[in-house]
Amino acid sequence: MLVTLKGLLEDAKNKKQAVGAFNGTTLEGIRAIIGAAEEFQRPVILQHAQSHDTIIDLNEIAPLMLHYARSASVPVAVHLDHGSTFKRCMEAIRAGFTSVMYDASAKPFEQNLMETAEIVKAAHSVGVSVEAELGHVANINEDPGEDNIYTDPALAEEFVKRTGVDCLAVAFGTVHGLYVKQPRLDLSIVTQISEKTGIPLVMHGGSGVSGDNYRRAIKEGICKINYYTYMNTAGGNAARSFVKQSGEHLAYDCLTLAATEAMKQDVMAAMRIFGMDE
Ligand code: 13P
Repeated sequence: MLVTLKGLLEDAKNKKQAVGAFNGTTLEGIRAIIGAAEEFQRPVILQHAQSHDTIIDLNEIAPLMLHYARSASVPVAVHLDHGSTFKRCMEAIRAGFTSVMYDASAKPFEQNLMETAEIVKAAHSVGVSVEAELGHVANINEDPGEDNIYTDPALAEEFVKRTGVDCLAVAFGTVHGLYVKQPRLDLSIVTQISEKTGIPLVMHGGSGVSGDNYRRAIKEGICKINYYTYMNTAGGNAARSFVKQSGEHLAYDCLTLAATEAMKQDVMAAMRIFGMDE
């Protein structure tokens, strides 16, 4: 069933769990994510990043995401990940998404705040939840600079008060993409922001974080974990093995099933940790 992000995350916060937010860039990815959630009977966030418009446009994949969310036997929020313009956020809302992330984290504090507040006003008026980002979760091939890695807890408190966002992505040392060296996480940042704001916090760059760090982050207030790179790689690796095993006759439809199953298993393993089962 299709639900709002706000409700999902409030429930997770009360239970001291996190809900996995997985990017469904293909039909196989969407089936893997929903299949894992149903097998586990866990809520899930199915998301489309604006940067993935180059793979498939939001308006093309939205009906598919919403179809799977509505017919799922578990609660599913359909979310825009890293929306970078007012227009794209409004298009996601019009398409039927139940939440949007507006990411103006690269802009100056006051500008990020004012633009986010504008999105919150519009989204809340039609019952859609909003995530924003303060501080900057870098990409693996980008040097964020020592000073810019972590979110300032005092600024986070002011940002949440003045924007009214439903959840906040915070920077405490994770990065997007495959890690080439161990991340330097500062979980005291999460603790302080959670105490000051009281709202559910979001971890971006969820792939490659150790089980121990996931669990500690969830205990400190992380309620949504964005996870895509490892799941995507699991699908790619399964496709490669399938090609190797296939010899002369390579059946494309069967290849997609092998990739779907591998992504599903990877998502299930992540969900087990996010739900604090182990
Ligand atoms: P990973 O690249 O670490 O999987 O993170 C995905 C993400 O944060 C999407 O917003």
